[in-house]
Amino acid sequence: MVLITGGCGFIGSAFVLQWLAQSGEPVLNLDLLTYAGHPGNLAAVQGRPGYHFTHGDIGDSALVADLLRTHQPRAIVHFAAESHVDRSIAGPMAFAHTNVLGTLKLLEVTLAWWRTLPPEQAQAFRFLNISTDEVFGSLEAGAAGFTERHPFEPNSPYSASKAAADHFVRAWHHTYGLPVLTTHCSNNYGPRQFPEKLIPLMVHNALAGKPLPVYGDGLQVRDWLHVDDHCAALRAVLAQGRPGQTYNIGGRSERTNLAVVHAICASLDAVRPRSDAKPYAELIAHVTDRPGHDRRYAIDDSRIASELGWQPTVRFEDGIRRTVAWYLDNPDWVASVTSGSYRQWVEQQYPSTATP
Ligand code: NAD
Ligand code: DAU
Repeated sequence: MVLITGGCGFIGSAFVLQWLAQSGEPVLNLDLLTYAGHPGNLAAVQGRPGYHFTHGDIGDSALVADLLRTHQPRAIVHFAAESHVDRSIAGPMAFAHTNVLGTLKLLEVTLAWWRTLPPEQAQAFRFLNISTDEVFGSLEAGAAGFTERHPFEPNSPYSASKAAADHFVRAWHHTYGLPVLTTHCSNNYGPRQFPEKLIPLMVHNALAGKPLPVYGDGLQVRDWLHVDDHCAALRAVLAQGRPGQTYNIGGRSERTNLAVVHAICASLDAVRPRSDAKPYAELIAHVTDRPGHDRRYAIDDSRIASELGWQPTVRFEDGIRRTVAWYLDNPDWVASVTSGSYRQWVEQQYPSTATP
């Protein structure tokens, strides 16, 4: 079986669903259920014999040691993290606590257990660390995409915490020989993403008739990858990646934030026109920029493409239409995650766009 951390979040839940749909191998999901973790994301597999859930913290070493001894996973797929850049700016300590110390504690416990394994089992074991392209910093317009050799230049507390975790993961391979793999992925989109992130936030606000808060000039560039393509890439890395190696994963879909917001508005205009028939794009409101806002990310995916034969399959234009449709078709999910603490965050983060 494989142990997943953070499987109730956006990408972790997509990974569990894809894994169980495509393989008979059981998964154990360890998740603390922070504001970003929703057991409902995995309602479709709840109660299935191949799906097991433990409510707990990656930093709880006794709990993790017990899970490893009991379940003897052949791999750990480590998603659990604080993942939102704006929250890291408002409160960096949680990011150091979970992303750095939590990962370090997970590595320590994993190593101690891994050392007890018979040689064949130890050799086959993998620790897959899910990282981000943000550790590489920001690119100028026209500069080549990040390769795996690009220097780490993290600019936000979030990316600094992920970079620190990545360094520990690397050291656990170099120093102790733990068979680790690290991936650096670009911006994901798709179903079940918490509406603090750009795409679901815009859909949510548009449907509520609220302003669509675009930071600064909106010409920052992100590379968008459908979450199911990301999960397929992770399965390829887990199956065939070389221990100690890192793999960059991207969508070959660079878009400015404004272009993304316009694409969302156009999708909504087509399937859920406003009652006054005005275009949703009229709701776009430029607001104060994010401090230290990275201007552009782009990925050179030639390593994963040539070594593992992976490439993205979902065209952004199709993926965004399907994603908008998912949020329209799942108002109960949206209602269940946008409860009290969500409203507090929105009031703190977007005071200037609050509707009267
Ligand atoms: P998310 O915020 O949606 O989910 C995080 C999950 O981790 C939640 O279920 C939460 O309850 C859980 N968690 C948090 N702290 C925990 C702890 N101490 N112990 C156990 N569980 C804990 O995040 P996401 O967007 O799904 O991202 C998953 C991973 O992928 C993160 O490591 C993130 O850095 C990375 N990543 C995300 C993106 C993206 O676009 N979202 C892109 C590249 C990499
Ligand atoms: O690049 C991978 C990273 O992508 C992941 O590691 C992070 O976990 C994930 O959150 C994401 O980080 P970003 O900061 O790029 O994502 P976010 O959705 O917060 O913002 C996307 C872009 O949209 C960014 O340039 C900021 C801008 N933005 C965001 C919000 C929430 C706005 O203009 N307005 C907003 O309200």
